[in-house]
Amino acid sequence: MDIYGILVHLHSGLRWVVLLLLIYAIINAARSISSGKYLKKDKMINLFTMISLHIQLLIGLILYIISPNVKFIDGWMKDSMLRFFALEHITLMIIAIAIITIGRSRAEKKLEGTRNKHRAILISYIIGLILILVSIPWPFGRWASFGAGLG
Ligand code: HEM
Repeated sequence: MDIYGILVHLHSGLRWVVLLLLIYAIINAARSISSGKYLKKDKMINLFTMISLHIQLLIGLILYIISPNVKFIDGWMKDSMLRFFALEHITLMIIAIAIITIGRSRAEKKLEGTRNKHRAILISYIIGLILILVSIPWPFGRWASFGAGLG
């Protein structure tokens, strides 16, 4: 397998890690909101979730450069797969990762009070999760016709 194949597999597999960590961090924030504490454990869960997203971003950026599915040929905006990878996937994912990164940074540095910290994580991670879920090329719906290799 070439480097492109390895990165697509990594990027595809890491999606599950990202999703599980996000769900775990959201549940943790919801359960801790009225605990009166923002523990080291909470810090670590929120940090590792963000790191997994940043690794995904890095692999995604390399894929964006080398993928044959990203090409700006004539009419790419009218081709739903080309438009998805060249524009929609990258834009929504970067917005999601930015919202999560800013939310965590506010929780860690700016906000006072444990309730506010957990709430900042809860809200930003939920918005991020929704954006990520809608911009993953799941192997059903409009991606079904692209066959194996996607999803
Ligand atoms: C949480 C963030 C992300 C998740 C969960 C995610 C998930 C995925 C998945 C599941 C695929 C399909 C892989 C396959 O063909 O099996 C994919 C493809 C792709 N992603 Fe992402 N992605 C994320 C962020 C990004 C970002 C930020 C970029 C660009 C900067 C990016 C660029 C790409 C590209 C170019 C492809 C097409 C690869 C190809 O098939 O040639 N991704 N992504």
